[in-house]
Order: sequence, then C-alpha cells, then structure tokens
Amino acid sequence: MEFNVKHGALETIKTGCLVVAVSEARPLDGPAAILDKACSGQISAAVKHGDISGKAGQTLMLFGLPGITAQRVLLIGSGKDEDLGDRQFRKVVQKVTAVLKDGGATDALLTLAALPVKGRDVYSRTRLLVETVRENLYQFDQFKSKKAPSPRVRKCLLWTPEKADADQLTRGIAQGQAISDGTALTRTLGNLPGNVCTPTYLAKEAKALAKQHKELEVEVLEEKDMKALGMGSLLSVSAGSAEPAKLIRFSYQGGKGKDKPHVLVGKGITFDTGGISLKPGGGMDEMKYDMCGAASVFGVIKAVVTMQLPINLVCLIAAAENMPSGTATKPGDIVTSMSGQTIEILNTDAEGRLVLCDALSYAERFNPASVVDIATLTGACVVALGAHTTGLLGNNDELIQQLLAAGTKADDRAWQLPLFDEYQEQLDSPFADIANIGGPKAGTITAACFLSRFTKSYPWAHLDIAGTAWTSGGKEKGATGRPVPLLTQYLLDRVSA
Ligand code: BES
Ligand code: MN
Ligand code: ZN
Repeated sequence: MEFNVKHGALETIKTGCLVVAVSEARPLDGPAAILDKACSGQISAAVKHGDISGKAGQTLMLFGLPGITAQRVLLIGSGKDEDLGDRQFRKVVQKVTAVLKDGGATDALLTLAALPVKGRDVYSRTRLLVETVRENLYQFDQFKSKKAPSPRVRKCLLWTPEKADADQLTRGIAQGQAISDGTALTRTLGNLPGNVCTPTYLAKEAKALAKQHKELEVEVLEEKDMKALGMGSLLSVSAGSAEPAKLIRFSYQGGKGKDKPHVLVGKGITFDTGGISLKPGGGMDEMKYDMCGAASVFGVIKAVVTMQLPINLVCLIAAAENMPSGTATKPGDIVTSMSGQTIEILNTDAEGRLVLCDALSYAERFNPASVVDIATLTGACVVALGAHTTGLLGNNDELIQQLLAAGTKADDRAWQLPLFDEYQEQLDSPFADIANIGGPKAGTITAACFLSRFTKSYPWAHLDIAGTAWTSGGKEKGATGRPVPLLTQYLLDRVSA
C-alpha cells in the first residue's frame, strides 16, 4: 500500500473512497460536518434515520453523494472523543481497512489522522494509522495453492486540514512504512514452518538482507567457531538435532565510529520439542514460533536500515533446533558456558536461556551501550501477563524506563517484573555453578535471573515475548510482529536523546 499526504477542500478531492469519521458528538463536527454541508445534509440525514450513530467501528458506505467529487464516502463511527485512545483508534482503522480490502475502490482518502486521539500528535497518529492499516492487510499464503486475491485498493491518501502539518504526516508515513515492513518480515519468518525455517535458513536470510543494504554487515558463526569460543551451553541445545546451530551477527554502522553500539540478542529456536524433556503433543506445532525473538531482530534491523538511523547497532541471533535423539543433551548433564560458569541442565526444555547465555557473553566484545534480548522464553509469562503485554526485566533502571516508554509510544507495551536477589537462590545446583531451572514459582523471573548471571558487565534488559509474539488457535493463528514497534521506537528515541 502506498501512502501520500493530501490537504485542501474535501468535497472536490478525486478519490475512489473518502473515509470520514462520525463521532457520537452532535451536531456533526470536523470533516464530517464539512462534507455534510457540501452534500446538503445527506450525512446528518443518515444519522437522523439511524443508519449510523457514531458508535466506534460502525460503518456506512454511501455511493455517489451529490456535491461531492469522491465516488464513495465511507462513514466510520469513532465513538466518544473522551474514549478515543489507542485501542479505539486502532479498532476504527482496522474496520476501515477491512471494508476497503473487500471493496471496489482502488484508492482511498482517509481523514482519520485528524482524529483527536488521546496523547498523540499528528505525527504519531499518522504512524499508528499506517502501521494499523498495514497490519490488517498482511497475508501469509505462501503455502496455499489458491492465493486470496490481492485487494483492489492500492493507494491511500492521508488528509490533513492544516498544510503546516504536512511534514509531520510525511514523517509519520515514512516511519510507519519502515516499521510495517520490518513487522511484516518478522511475521513471515515467524509463520514459516520449522521444516523450512531452520537455523541454516535464518543464516541465509540474514545474508540476503545484508546483500540488499550496503550498510549492513553479516557474519555467521558455525558450530566449530562456537566450539572454539567455548559456547558449550548453546551447543548443548543443538546436540540432538540434525540441523546445525548458527550464531548470526548483523552490524549496522549508522552512527559515529566511536559511538558504542546498542545490541539486540534474539532467541532463535526454530523448533522447540523440549528435547529429552519432551513437550506434550497438544499444540506443539506452535513451537515453530520459538524463533520469534530472532525474527523480531530481523524486523528491527530492516526498519533501522530503511530509516537510516544515525546509531550503531549490533544484532546477535542464537539459532538452534531443540530435538530429542541419541545425541541429545540429557537431564542432569553439566555443560560449560562461554563465561566459564558450569550449568546443570535439569530440564532440556529450558533451552532458550542456554542459547541466550552464550550469545550474551559474546555481546561483551562489542562494548555495548545497552543489550536487550528478546525471547519467547517462558510459559509462565503467558500466565502472568497473557497475550497483551510483554514481560520486561533487567539490571538497569534507566534502560527499563526507556523500554517501557517506547512500548507506550509505539502502542506495543511491556510491563516490568522484579529481578530481586531473593529469587537467585532458586537456581542453586548441588553439582554445578547454576541450574537451568528454578522450580515452579516465578518462572519468568528465574529465567531472567539465569540470564542476569551472564550480563553483569553492561546495562541489560530482557523482553519475554512468549505471550505477545503470536496469536494461538484457529483462523487467527499467526505471528504478530511484536515487539518490532517497541524496539524500533526505543532506537528512534536513542537518536533524539
Ligand atoms: N519456548 C518455551 C516457552 C514457551 C512455552 C513460550 C509456551 C510460549 C508458549 C521455552 O523454551 C520453554 O519450554 N520453557 C519452559 C521452561 C521450564 C522448563 C522451566 C516452560 O515455560 O515451560
Ligand atoms: Mn523449551
Ligand atoms: Zn523454547
């Protein structure tokens, strides 16, 4: 979908579909009032006769209104202004997108960036609008013999009443498109089945992405390289699989040479069977999504290069497949991590932390300004926060606050859980320096405690996206692309800081 800015008189704009919000306020206000006047009260007549009340998400399509150049006018209820927060705004945009997607118009003009969304300026409304349209147009039908027909609507004009706002809209569109492209990549990598999306596939994708952008450098560490580095923990996860592990590094140099890089580390378990601590069968297919942390790193990289952000960024992807076999790691096995710390692997299904810890030790060599890891790490996080909020823990309060703020700004929110010292004891092992599980209580926190043993030398935060990276169940199943908006916002904020 192509987006462009438009201002000027609404009634004479040539478009297949002019989209105008009708709030619950009476008399009509904003663009709806302007148009109502131009068509001699046809819109207020529709309101009067009960065809549209302004309730959020309600729609009414009108064809060939007199006095208005647009072929169609789509009225969309935007509810009460006082309820118009991010959630309601997204609902409105989602509904409009669904109608346009199935409709006859090939282009549309949306006046919705002018809606008074609470706490948002015209730039951020525009960006959220673009991201929401794109999110609802996304399709994954690569493996369907019969593809869904692509929607007729191709071009979208975003209208502003103030010419002075045009720059804000233009920036909102550009950044919204960049973030949406990143999010779409993340969703597609996530949605790919485990037999296609292997560690080797991710490494190939990384090389392909670097080829497209000269600012990107990529390096793939093979198992022999990881062995030489002493990454016994990461390699213990791929030990049972026929697919070799890969540690992928992207470097993006957009900042000054001396600027310390921000580092992102993604969990890339391309399929998590649990290993010898085998998972139950029901719903196990969803463990193809266990590389969504890695996929989000790909998405962020793509958004960052597209926007050419003046920052330095290093991304590490710890990719492996967790399988049971005769060569697999067994409960009770003890391995030595790159940090030198020994780990007693009491449960081979707690594998995410095992690949991340070595990648986090490896991150030290980049002298990072900050390190954020992203992982579908614990089922306990889904219990604690459900599907709406990402779990956030870390060792640096400033970094935590920056990520929380970025999540709110990007409408991709996280919530902090405590990383108090008291929880660390749950990881005590009688035989090794640390156990890889901390018992049934506070599973998300003890997983982060485990990671914290490897991140002492830099500001670090951990995003547990087990609940937010994909939606489960029936037809709605699919990767969400979260937390690409949060992370991209976090990096955008580092530019202005
Ligand atoms: N990838 C899973 C976590 C997960 C489970 C994410 C369900 C989303 C939905 C992770 O590797 C795992 O298996 N974690 C275990 C840890 C436990 C053995 C301490 C879990 O959460 O059960
Ligand atoms: Mn697991
Ligand atoms: Zn896992």
